[in-house]
Amino acid sequence: MAARGEFSSRMAFVLAASGSAIGLGNIWGFPIQVAENGGGAFVFTYIILTFLLAYPILMAELLIGRHAKKDTVSSMLAISSERTRPLAALTGVWGMLTASFILSFYAIVAGWMIAFFLAAGADMVGISDVKQWLTDFSLSRNIIFCVLFYLLTITIVSRGIAAGIERWSTRLMPMLLVLILVLIAYIATLPGAAEGWRVYLQPDFARVLDPKLVISALGQAFFSLSLGVGTMMVYGSYVSKSENLPKLGAIVAGLDIGIAILAGLLVIPAMYVALHNGVTIYNEAGQLIDSDGLIFNVLPALFETMGGAGAIVALLFFSLMTIAALTSSISMLEVPVAYAIERRKMPRAKAAMLVGLSILAVSVILIFNFNALFGLVVDLTTRYSEPLIGLLFCLFVGWVWRRDQILGEIKQGFEGAEHSLFWRIWPGYVRFVCPLVVLAVMAQSFLA
Ligand code: PFF
Repeated sequence: MAARGEFSSRMAFVLAASGSAIGLGNIWGFPIQVAENGGGAFVFTYIILTFLLAYPILMAELLIGRHAKKDTVSSMLAISSERTRPLAALTGVWGMLTASFILSFYAIVAGWMIAFFLAAGADMVGISDVKQWLTDFSLSRNIIFCVLFYLLTITIVSRGIAAGIERWSTRLMPMLLVLILVLIAYIATLPGAAEGWRVYLQPDFARVLDPKLVISALGQAFFSLSLGVGTMMVYGSYVSKSENLPKLGAIVAGLDIGIAILAGLLVIPAMYVALHNGVTIYNEAGQLIDSDGLIFNVLPALFETMGGAGAIVALLFFSLMTIAALTSSISMLEVPVAYAIERRKMPRAKAAMLVGLSILAVSVILIFNFNALFGLVVDLTTRYSEPLIGLLFCLFVGWVWRRDQILGEIKQGFEGAEHSLFWRIWPGYVRFVCPLVVLAVMAQSFLA
C-alpha cells in the first residue's frame, strides 16, 4: 500500500484539486454561460448552487476516497453493504467511463488551444500560411494537436502523484493566476471594457429562477468542480489522514468560483472591447455568437485589432487556456489509470500509456465524426451522467455508508468534528436535499 502515493502537503493537494476543478469550464464555459444567461443573474445562481449542492457532493467524494485510499471502484465497494455491492461497482465503473469520455472531447478542444497558441507565435514571426493552417478547422490540425495534448497528459500522469500530478499542478497553477490577472488588467484599460463590466456585474434578478438558467448553472457547477466522475474521489484517496477535509474542500470550491469569476472579468469585457472595435459578437437574430465562435473568432479578431500588442495578448491568453486544460486532463486520466494500477495490477507508466492511447482512439473517432458525435458526447457526459452519478454518490453516503464510520473519517484531521456546523448540516444534506434537488433539476430539464 505504501507505494500508492500521496500528496506531499496540504498545499499540494489544494493546487492539484483546484487544478482539476479550474479548467476550460471556468475560463471558457463560465463566461459564455454568463453572457448567454443574463449576466450577473447567472453568476448569482451559480454561486448559490455551488455552495448548496456542489460543495456537499465534493465532500462526499473526497471523504469516500480518503476513507478507502483506493481507486474509485474499490472505494465505492469499501463503503457499500453486501446488498448494494453491484450498484457500488457499477457507479464506480460508470464514473470512470464518464471521466474517460469527458477527456475524449476535452483533449480535442485543448488541442485547439495549443494550435492557437502557436498561431500567435507564427503571427509574431510573420509566417502567415502556418498561422492560417493552425487556425483553420482541419482534420490534420485537429488530430496532430489532440495527440500532442495526450502526450503531455500521459507523460505527467505516468510520473505518479508527487513527481507528476503534484509537481506540475504546483508549477502551472500560480502561472495561471498571474496570466489571468495580467490579462484582466490589460483589457480593463481598453475602450469598451467598462460596458462589459457593467453587464457582468449587474444581476437581472428577474431571471435568477429561470429554469433554463438554473439547469445551466447546475451543470456548470458540477462540471466546474469535476464532480460525478470520481476524479475528486481519487484525489481524495491521496490526501493524508491528518488533514481537515471539510476545510480543504471549501478552499478548493472557493478557488474554483474565484477563478471562474475572474475569467468572467477577462472574457466579458474583452467581448465588449471587440464590439467597440467593430468585431461582430451578435448574430442577425441579436443573439450572442455561439461559444466556439466567441473564443476562436471573436477573441482572435479582437487580438488582431490590437496591433503589435495583439499577438502577445493572444500568446498569453491561449497559454492560459492550455495550462488550465492540462491540470484538468491529468485528473481525468488518473481515474481509469488508478483503476488499472490497483485492480488490474499494471505498472503506472504502462497503465497511463495504455489507457491514454485508448481514450485517444475515442477522440480520433470524434474528430472524424465531429458534427454527429461531439455535441452528443458533451451532452451525455456533462448534462446527464455527471449529475446522476453525483446523485448516486450522495445516496451511498447518505443511506448506505455507516454514520459512525463517516464521522470517524471526518474526525481524522478535524477533532471535534461532531460539534461542528459541518456535521450538523452536511449528513442530512447529502441524504435528502442533494438527491432531491438534482432530481428536480433533471426532471425540469426533461420537461423544459
Ligand atoms: N473541472 C474542469 C473544468 O472546469 O474545465 C473539467 C473537468 C475536470 C471535468 C475533471 C471532469 C473531470 F473529471
